[in-house]
Amino acid sequence: MAIQISPSILSADFAHLADEAAAVSPSADWLHVDVMDNHFVPNLTLGLPIVESLLKATDTPLDCHLMIEEPDRWAPAYAEAGAGSVTIHAKAAGAPVRTLREIRRLGARAGLALNPAEPVEPYADLVGEMDMLLLMTVEPGFGGQKFLDVVLPKIRRAREILDSREASVWLQVDGGVSDETIERAAEAGADVFVAGSAVYGAQDPAKAVESLRALATGAAARS
Ligand code: DX5
Ligand code: ZN
Repeated sequence: MAIQISPSILSADFAHLADEAAAVSPSADWLHVDVMDNHFVPNLTLGLPIVESLLKATDTPLDCHLMIEEPDRWAPAYAEAGAGSVTIHAKAAGAPVRTLREIRRLGARAGLALNPAEPVEPYADLVGEMDMLLLMTVEPGFGGQKFLDVVLPKIRRAREILDSREASVWLQVDGGVSDETIERAAEAGADVFVAGSAVYGAQDPAKAVESLRALATGAAARS
């Protein structure tokens, strides 16, 4: 699968989200939207009303990453609103299979996320229920953290699990992705890359997206 880049608006200017979305269009494949509830993670960001407004303001599909408690209750509304992808955290979900199915039924791609310390093996049998597996490469909650190399072996194991199944499931990494780290993650087998500070902290965000894409594409081809 071609490499995809999903800039995270967590590092953008929240007062000018439409302009910030435009700044990475059409380079970005997705716009990554970090929904945090100050319970599942110790930070509070935005919710459905802002996602609904953003959907009207950009043609770039939204990749909604729900770092919230009770995703079973809240996730379907993001799919219904028109998000292209909705990712829930395995640890927070009471009924992940039901919720992933509901997200798909409502027309979005369904993603399942694992924190750095959570093993991937217990979810191997659920691969057919998801369109994307998200492996966090920082502890979730904040942008600008350092990429955790300790997750690399899990990215490799996840790639093996995904390749051994029929379903084509994307493997996303999120946290600390930059020009310095993206090649390691791509070599390990990731194919969708979230980048917040590396994109919105750059002078030219669209150029930063293209630089990340080129590095990941080169690294994936070499591996
Ligand atoms: C962290 C969020 C990330 C964050 C990444 O919990 O899920 O999406 O925006 O930011 P960077 O790329 O700066 O690590
Ligand atoms: Zn995220």
